[in-house]
Amino acid sequence: MENVTDLRTVEWKDNKVVMIEQTKLPNELIFVEYDDFNQVANAIKTLIVRGAPAIGVSGAFGLALAVLQSKATTKDDLISDLEDARKILFATRPTAVNLGWGLEKIMNVAKSGDTVEQIRDLVISKAKKMADEDIEINKTMGKNGSVLFDDNDTIMTHCNAGALATVAYGTALGVIRATRESGKNIKVIATETRPIQQGSRLTAFELKHDGFDVSLIPDTAVGYTMANGLVNKVIVGADRIVKTGHVFNKIGTYQVAIMAKQHGIPFYVAAPLSTIDLKTKAEDVIIEMRKGSEVTGIGDKKTAPDDINVINPAFDMTPPELISGIITEKGVATAPYDKSIPKLFESDNS
Ligand code: MRU
Repeated sequence: MENVTDLRTVEWKDNKVVMIEQTKLPNELIFVEYDDFNQVANAIKTLIVRGAPAIGVSGAFGLALAVLQSKATTKDDLISDLEDARKILFATRPTAVNLGWGLEKIMNVAKSGDTVEQIRDLVISKAKKMADEDIEINKTMGKNGSVLFDDNDTIMTHCNAGALATVAYGTALGVIRATRESGKNIKVIATETRPIQQGSRLTAFELKHDGFDVSLIPDTAVGYTMANGLVNKVIVGADRIVKTGHVFNKIGTYQVAIMAKQHGIPFYVAAPLSTIDLKTKAEDVIIEMRKGSEVTGIGDKKTAPDDINVINPAFDMTPPELISGIITEKGVATAPYDKSIPKLFESDNS
């Protein structure tokens, strides 16, 4: 097989949405094909597709299916069908802002069309363009971030912010890819990322497959590896970044950031502008709570007593004082973030 990053995690083919079925990785690399936006909504909900930028583009493709499914003959009826589909797609996962961003972009484009035919063409071509742009943005972000990493660095990452979390190339792993492409020799440490192991199932798979020197650690070994000088830098992705620089990312990110601070290790976040939410306050961001069975077992094997109470938040918040820089396609924002983050949008007309 070619490199994982040469595949597309989600793509539009012959008026269908094709996705890598990520719950089957790393044991099987299979693709699923959908012609109904409800199937796309289900795929987002059940993590067949996951990762903030990938679900943003999947939402857009979901609406592209909805525009084909609609029997409407007038603009108003078509927009009303699209609005119903948007609500179903939006209700799947609450934390990553990219989903709402992708849906809003498509709704705006749909409203700008005059006829049903024109809206169909506009929506499909915009969704395809968003997928192509995601890869370009990741490559630019990668270059912007690669200057922060040195030859012979060992870089820790948490969860999967890779090709599999985007259309291709990745955000945090995009920076790691670009650092290697710039000729630097680097090693990676991937945390397992319990409870559902995006680190071992996805990051370790994609980096090992693409020829990186990657070591897998249990989440509980973050302190050990840092205390023993095995880590030079950390880079993670994000599901939502607010104006004040508070970063929402996979559960456990906060612990990694605290530990990095304790050991004087730079902690970077890589995310596109579509992950930045200038409107919502940190305290108002909804953290997705997931089912207890993800914690009481591993796969089908039960690892906890019956009827145990479980707290299973899917994301946590890392405060700005723990973050050395936020890498985007428009440059690297540093503290004070309430000044540097809005600046990133000054030249953005997307
Ligand atoms: O629950 P997931 O797998 O969708 O969570 C993904 C993450 O937390 C990623 O780190 C984040 O989306 C950044 S992806 C480029």
